[in-house]
Amino acid sequence: MYLLEAKEIYKSFGDNQVLKGVDLFVEEGQVVSIIGPSGSGKSTLLRCMTQLETADSGEISICGQAMTKNQNGKAVYSDKAQLRQIMLDVGLVFQNFQLFPHWSVLRNLTDAQMRVLGRSKEEAEAIARELLAKMKLSEKENAYPCQLSGGQQQRVAIARALAMSPKILFFDEPTSALDPELIGEVLEIIRELAKQDMTMVIVTHEMTFAREISDKVMFLEQGNVLAFDTPEAIFSGTENARIQSFLSLLKK
Ligand SMILES: Nc1ncnc2c1ncn2[C@@H]1O[C@H](COP(=O)(O)OP(=O)(O)O)[C@@H](O)[C@H]1O
Ligand SMILES: [Mg+2]
Repeated sequence: MYLLEAKEIYKSFGDNQVLKGVDLFVEEGQVVSIIGPSGSGKSTLLRCMTQLETADSGEISICGQAMTKNQNGKAVYSDKAQLRQIMLDVGLVFQNFQLFPHWSVLRNLTDAQMRVLGRSKEEAEAIARELLAKMKLSEKENAYPCQLSGGQQQRVAIARALAMSPKILFFDEPTSALDPELIGEVLEIIRELAKQDMTMVIVTHEMTFAREISDKVMFLEQGNVLAFDTPEAIFSGTENARIQSFLSLLKK
């Protein structure tokens, strides 16, 4: 079963056509990485999948629920209730963590559980504490984000997303804002999630990681999908000169 089905996604900002008919299908339990040069549309694609941007045309479904359908070449969005319902299945982790700075770690993890899912304080805190233990951050529940390292903040952000029991998780360069020595601890958490068959779509520049963790890798360039294939095919088998040159530049 596909948890994410996106067909023929187009998106422009003014004259700048950023997505030029992108297809993305993700099966339950799959990890899909999206790679490609800066400005190729990776974040825009992720933002269209997660309702932070509206696609101009194309069809998107998440967990079998239609977010948009095409009508006369335009994306027509489902009603607000349906869009809200879809977002309950979606988790998002950004490059810059986006924790609430004036809230403790625990409150960052419990607020949306209570407000959006209607969980009791006790239940929300129990779930939050279990996740913090998994992130090896139990002793930090009363800390404020500014008292944590970047790697710890990102682990809190991942725990916050997981606390909402999403069916699919999207990451936009989850380690790009981190000092090199903190990247590993965040990748380790994502690796663990992959082992537990969490369905994930990950925009990343960590090529070794993408190769190791992904079931499929998408290479995006200037809004076009140049390849959507197994990591082996992309990283060692590709005959596409553009992809080869991108990968060889990274190795230098
Ligand atoms: N909100 C926006 N308004 C105008 N242009 C945007 C906006 N977001 C992204 N873009 C443009 O879209 C293109 C793709 O950006 P982006 O999706 O962020 O690429 P990537 O994540 O691959 O680096 C860039 O040319 C960028 O300037
Ligand atoms: Mg980006």
